[in-house]
Amino acid sequence: MKKVFLETYGCQMNEYDSELVKAILAKKEYTFVKDELDADIVMLNTCAIREHAHRKIYGRVHDIRHKRNGKPVKIGILGCMATNLRTDLLENKNLDIDFIAGPDSYKRLPNLIAESYGEREGSKPFDLTLSEFETYSDVYPAREEGVNAWIAVMRGCNNFCTFCVVPYTRGRERSRSVENVIEEARRLAADGFKQITLLGQNVNSYRHGDDDFADLMQAVSRVEGIERIRFTSPHPKDFPEKFLKLMAENPKICKQIHMPLQAGSSRVLDAMNRTYTREEFLALVDKARQMVPGVALSTDIIVGFPTETDAEFEETVEVMNQVQFDSAFIFKYSERKGTIAQRKMPDDVPDAIKTERIVRLNDLQNEISLKKNEAYVGREEVVLIEQEQANKSPDMMVARTDTNKLVTLPKTGHKAGDLITIRVTGATPHALKGRWINPSDPTQGCNRAN
Ligand code: 5AD
Ligand code: SF4
Repeated sequence: MKKVFLETYGCQMNEYDSELVKAILAKKEYTFVKDELDADIVMLNTCAIREHAHRKIYGRVHDIRHKRNGKPVKIGILGCMATNLRTDLLENKNLDIDFIAGPDSYKRLPNLIAESYGEREGSKPFDLTLSEFETYSDVYPAREEGVNAWIAVMRGCNNFCTFCVVPYTRGRERSRSVENVIEEARRLAADGFKQITLLGQNVNSYRHGDDDFADLMQAVSRVEGIERIRFTSPHPKDFPEKFLKLMAENPKICKQIHMPLQAGSSRVLDAMNRTYTREEFLALVDKARQMVPGVALSTDIIVGFPTETDAEFEETVEVMNQVQFDSAFIFKYSERKGTIAQRKMPDDVPDAIKTERIVRLNDLQNEISLKKNEAYVGREEVVLIEQEQANKSPDMMVARTDTNKLVTLPKTGHKAGDLITIRVTGATPHALKGRWINPSDPTQGCNRAN
């Protein structure tokens, strides 16, 4: 038995992939350990989406060797950086790594590791092939116990937003069949999971045969024992009325949509190849709010995309004021190797301006988020308990509303996975406070879903 330590960077899809890697290696002669110093093999599942990622990983490789003090350890680089920086990883003499596997090659990991121990020691075995078919639909991920389980229903991306490295690191879109996803969802329900989050780089572009994303969501919602369904990360181009109608009507589908705007100027959106204008995005927001009353909206924004002027940035401010998102992730543009923007558009917005813009948007969003959350105070909400004891406060527990707001509340004796009705008693920009509504009539019970 060889001992493996696996460290994950980046997005939820990478976390999921690490669960796949664990399942694949656990079937062979590998076991996973929590202390890297105990491990024979250290694998870093890397991200390439924004800057610092690769410097951090290079630093981490040196750090692992240094801590070992000469004791042997195999180091493997997995994930998006592997495909994005393949040449450097393979040729950089200062980077002491032993094997490399891209996101579609994890089934080959046992061979790659074995080769790294083989007679061609030092040859850095690698597999960076991107597949049009690999969905790992036959691997049941080695998940941690909990309330929520992730299921990757599609992988890859066909959109080629000009700033984004994902189409190059993860290849083209491909989806699993509805039947295959349902089979996994049933197994998860039997294992006690209460919530499923469907995952994909463009999750709502899911398509398998005649089945689209709405068909898939509907099918998952019929799985008994699963009380809540969420999804991430979608693209605004794929929210047909059929889907919004289903969301409005189906109590298990959480009323929350992540709608990445990226920029508020139609000229910048075009340069980003986002395929919608500011007006089209605003119309979609109106339609979603009209069809799904009470829906919470979150977004992603990039500031300082090449050529973005002050006036164009002000358009982003305007759209954020107008839409009033519940929350937003705001990033400085970061040039990524191999992307269309990197090849065609100089990164010409000075970092100081990017900083000014990000600070301004974060301040604005904090105000909006606080206002949005304060509007919940006094309301009754059904929440799903995620932690029956909060990490830092032993008297508190942590739960979540249908609209994905985090709630802290005094412990009641309920268990993680229970749905209870609470009264919201307070709000901050990032969370709510609440207390359980103890039903006066015990036969009424409030431990029920929607
Ligand atoms: N620079 C900055 N932010 C980026 N994102 C993706 N690529 C880049 C980049 N090159 C952001 C987008 C995306 C989120 C996951 O990361 O906002 O929606
Ligand atoms: Fe990072 Fe994107 Fe890869 Fe996720 S898909 S690990 S965010 S580069």
